[in-house]
Amino acid sequence: MFHEYKIRIGGYEYPYYLSYNTEILIGKLRALGVCSVFIVYDNSINKDYITSLKNLLMGEIKCESVGISVGEHNKNIDKVREISEYLLECGIDRKSCIVALGGGVLGNIVGLVAGLLFRGIRLVHIPTTVMAATDSVLSLKQAVNTKFGKNLLGMFYKPEMVFTDYSCFKSLSKRDYNAGLVELIKNLVSVIPEHIDEVYGILNDRVEYTFEEFNLFLDLSIRAKCGLLINDMYEKKDGLVFEYGHTVGHAVEFLSRGEIRHGEGVAFGLMVESEISRELGYLKEEEVDIHYKLINKIGIIDQLTRINTYSEEEIWNVMKYDNKRGYCEENEGTVPMVLLKSLGECYVENGSYVKLVQEDIFKISVNRVFNRISDFT
Ligand SMILES: NC(=O)c1ccc[n+]([C@@H]2O[C@H](COP(=O)([O-])OP(=O)(O)OC[C@H]3O[C@@H](n4cnc5c(N)ncnc54)[C@H](O)[C@@H]3O)[C@@H](O)[C@H]2O)c1
Ligand SMILES: [Zn+2]
Repeated sequence: MFHEYKIRIGGYEYPYYLSYNTEILIGKLRALGVCSVFIVYDNSINKDYITSLKNLLMGEIKCESVGISVGEHNKNIDKVREISEYLLECGIDRKSCIVALGGGVLGNIVGLVAGLLFRGIRLVHIPTTVMAATDSVLSLKQAVNTKFGKNLLGMFYKPEMVFTDYSCFKSLSKRDYNAGLVELIKNLVSVIPEHIDEVYGILNDRVEYTFEEFNLFLDLSIRAKCGLLINDMYEKKDGLVFEYGHTVGHAVEFLSRGEIRHGEGVAFGLMVESEISRELGYLKEEEVDIHYKLINKIGIIDQLTRINTYSEEEIWNVMKYDNKRGYCEENEGTVPMVLLKSLGECYVENGSYVKLVQEDIFKISVNRVFNRISDFT
């Protein structure tokens, strides 16, 4: 039981397989001409899973592996260097293939390692979180954080293939599973609103999804992302819509040093940025409500209340270093954000996909979100 997609981003193309188990993995690696792999995996993944995957590969393909402990707090250039030097010590060469087995954090770090080692060696992603499987591997962006903010150091780098083993999600915590669905919610409100009702009917707070329902989530994510990224691989124009919810989201995720999950930060960011879009007269009240309804359906609102330990000033000060700076002429006292004009339509002004938002509008919107969140809990 598997599904196959062709991911097209800019002029690049790579296959994506969603399988119920790992049976077809060897065949797909062989089809790429891979005869030795270096697996870098996230230590949090179930040990039995790692052992059985290594056993499966080792019978057929030369294989080295290393487990690393990663988190948002060490998604940095030191980790990139540490892994690169370990792989060099193990004998990696320019013909080797790196397999990144883990969530979005590991995928971003190892993606950067693959792009830098020998100025680029082959990379295969085996995403093990819903976030990575439905979002981060559908982009060429590989980046790590600096002390100033998230994803400020990175590059665009293409994988040879993505292979998602659905059974791997069994060990994911409910919290991480749900946080992973937030990017799908973002895609629904910002790119494919015609699918909101269909997905709303399936979303639940119990993490009960069939393989085919998950495949629908993946299919929609691919349609939303590739539909725009095919003509905007650097995510500078239409593709910037995928940053909706991320200016605020990245700031709270960064402030919490990963305690608030990426998806949770983005969920909060979607609420705040939808309120800002309404405050500026773009989104209608009922369109903002749809954001809350979708996020509430996956039952993560109570996780978002913890964000209220950060003041508006603290969040604002981190947002000043957001990686969308430079997309438009800057103005003292403002931060550029991606906003919506209506569901499925990004706000574009004089050819610019970002809007400078004033601090007072941000503060009003954050407070509105905190008030509305407390009504849900
Ligand atoms: N490049 C992009 O375009 C892009 C897009 C979206 C997100 N991201 C990045 O991805 C990161 C978030 O990704 P994430 O949500 O996958 O976080 P993550 O990688 O931190 O994984 C979440 C948690 O699940 C654990 N884990 C991973 N796989 C597991 C499994 N199968 N079973 C049990 N536990 C498992 C991890 O150790 C971690 O504790 C952020 O750093 C974000 O910036 C990048
Ligand atoms: Zn994201």
